Amino acid sequence: MSDEYVLPRKATLESPLRLAVMISGGGSGLQALLKHQGCGDRAHVTALVIADTETAGGLSHAMDAGVDFVSVPLPQGLKGHERRRAHEEQIMRCLVSKDIELVVLSGYMRILSSYFVSHWKGRLVNIHPSLLPDFPGAHAQRDALEAGVRVSGCTVHFVDEGVDSGPVIEQREVPVLDSDTVDTLRDRIKEAEHDLYPKILDDISLGRISL
Ligand code: GRF
Repeated sequence: MSDEYVLPRKATLESPLRLAVMISGGGSGLQALLKHQGCGDRAHVTALVIADTETAGGLSHAMDAGVDFVSVPLPQGLKGHERRRAHEEQIMRCLVSKDIELVVLSGYMRILSSYFVSHWKGRLVNIHPSLLPDFPGAHAQRDALEAGVRVSGCTVHFVDEGVDSGPVIEQREVPVLDSDTVDTLRDRIKEAEHDLYPKILDDISLGRISL
């Protein structure tokens, strides 16, 4: 395993960075990114969308935008570590075959192993719906409400071998209201995410982010 972060090359409008976006669900973040890429000159392009289920709603956004997509479910007939390794190897083959230069996790609900992370370190980013290091994990909005915080938000970070623990690139705050439910807080945070993540991808692609 390598501790080294290797950032992607500095891209240009003529030679944009090739992104793969990995999703598990509705893909509103993917939709926002595709819209951003479709309405201006960008130094990045979504070359592939990967979902871990065939039913991920977000695949329709790839289809609508004419972007290549593939679903890679967990392989049958294997268990535990071997299953996860075979799954990640399959994803890896998809990424390599499309010359992917940056992997963008956008609501991808699986924890990636050190096999995968060490290969992509510095070229693997995630967005999380809290102000990390507060409220890592799958229930960030619920945990923020239970803790009674007045401010929450989202975090874009490089992925390391831990859970929502890699170096923070940028955060965006949103207020938490007395009337909030998990759903209303989730929606408010997503609005911030949809603005922040594409801008950070602009910065990474243009070489404006360092570690
Ligand atoms: C986002 O809130 C993101 O922070 C989290 O998963 C959610 C994905 O939402 N990791 P969507 O599938 O993009 O609508």
